[in-house]
Order: sequence, then structure tokens, then C-alpha cells
Amino acid sequence: MLNVTVLVSGGGTNLQAIMDAIDDGRIRNARVTHVISNNPNAYALERARKHGNIEAEVLSPKSFPSRADFNEAFYQRLMEIRPDLIVLAGFLVVIPESVVRAFPHKIINIHPSLIPSFCGKGYFGLHVHEKALARGVKVTGATVHFVDEGTDTGPIILQKVVSIEEGDTPEVLQKRVMEQAEWKILPEAINLIAAGRVSVGEDRIVHISK
Ligand code: GRF
Repeated sequence: MLNVTVLVSGGGTNLQAIMDAIDDGRIRNARVTHVISNNPNAYALERARKHGNIEAEVLSPKSFPSRADFNEAFYQRLMEIRPDLIVLAGFLVVIPESVVRAFPHKIINIHPSLIPSFCGKGYFGLHVHEKALARGVKVTGATVHFVDEGTDTGPIILQKVVSIEEGDTPEVLQKRVMEQAEWKILPEAINLIAAGRVSVGEDRIVHISK
């Protein structure tokens, strides 16, 4: 059984998609044991509490005198939990290097574009979709990738394409990318990892076995 900790900052629709997929059997051999939010008002915490059997907790940089102190507390908490997999589901805090090193290929992130387009520093939330529309691309999508020391630079696990339509606003596009891509490929990636089907080569290419 894969013990999963989900890190969130906001509404938690991706967390909901994971919990639903576990409950209806689309994800097998995994359970969410902990949800950690940096934001005490994140609706994601409410979703975890409503679900039950999940520890929902807040760990905010704002409660610490410095970022280094927060990073240390965050690292210590994860070392206590010792999750088999950490899922960043709309988590807006930079993961400290100590955590990346302690959990090699055990941290995954969902990004709302087809990496390497529209990713990296400053590409989060609605900005990603604003930039895609401003560039005039005709397709976008979402990417699940492993987290390394960079921003959105880790090995790519799954991607799904979403069409851009005439008249799209960033908000409309964000919703379509979530519904058609994010809520599908994030649970799918967790299921593949729980089944032991995902490996990362020396060349940092992800392979998914049958
Ligand atoms: C998603 O668009 C995700 O890709 C991005 O943040 C958003 C999180 O939404 N990184 P939610 O909190 O899962 O509803």
C-alpha cells in the first residue's frame, strides 16, 4: 500500500480527484494519509476533513521567523510522516532542496501546461493560461512530472492535450485544462506509481511498463 501525502494551497480540486479515484477504485493500492497546506484557509483542508481518515494540517512559512526555519520544520514533518509518495496538488510553496534530496523520485507535481511550454518561474495559476492565450497556441494541456531541484524541470510522467477554442479566457481555459487533463492524469500517475510501473532511466526519461 502506497502511503501518499498531498500538499495543497487552494481549492483542492486535484486532491478531490485523487480521493475520488481511490474511493472508486481507479487508483489501487494507495491511500492518502496526510494533507498539508501552507494556507490555513485552503478549502482543500475542508475536503480532507470531510473525507475522513486523513490528517489535515497547516504548515505555513508565515508562522516561522525565517524561510530557513520553515524549511527545517517542513523537512522534519515529512521525515516523521515518511510518505511513499508526495503529491503537489496546487502547492504554491517552493519545495526545499533538503526535501527533494530526501525523497528522490518520490515527489510529483501537476502543472497546467504541456511542459516545456509555459512553465518555470512565474508560471503558476492563471498566469500559465494567460501566457498560452497571448502566444496563440492552439493546444495546451497538463503535465505530471517528478520534482527535482529546478522549477518544472523534473522527468515527465504523463501529459494530456487540451484544445484551445475561439473566445477562451484564462478562466475558461483553466477550467477546461483541469476537467479534461489535470483531474485525469494526476490520479492515473498515482495509480501507475502504486502499481510499480513507473521507472526513471539514467537519462531522466520516464518509462511506463505494461
Ligand atoms: C491547478 O491548476 C494546478 O495545476 C495548479 O494549481 C491549481 C490547483 O487547483 N498548479 P486545485 O487546488 O487542485 O483546485
